[in-house]
Amino acid sequence: MKDKPICVQKKPYVLDMEPGTYAFCTCGRSEKDPFCDGKHANTYFKPEIIKISKAKKIAWCGCKDSEKGAKCDGSHKDL
Ligand code: FES
Repeated sequence: MKDKPICVQKKPYVLDMEPGTYAFCTCGRSEKDPFCDGKHANTYFKPEIIKISKAKKIAWCGCKDSEKGAKCDGSHKDL
């Protein structure tokens, strides 16, 4: 049986991001959510790698239920 991701919070993390490469936590176990800290080890989860080419605001999914992966799609409102 597959593990389910852990819902960390039922709202996004809205952050001003600088250009760079980020590893979004998909398992909900990271203590640095919304970013990966390696706690997915021994689960089937892998971080989602997101490349940002220019500075912008991003709403990172905190509930881990978004159909857009790392980006909030409003699914947290139905939890
Ligand atoms: S925080 Fe997950 S869909 Fe909005």
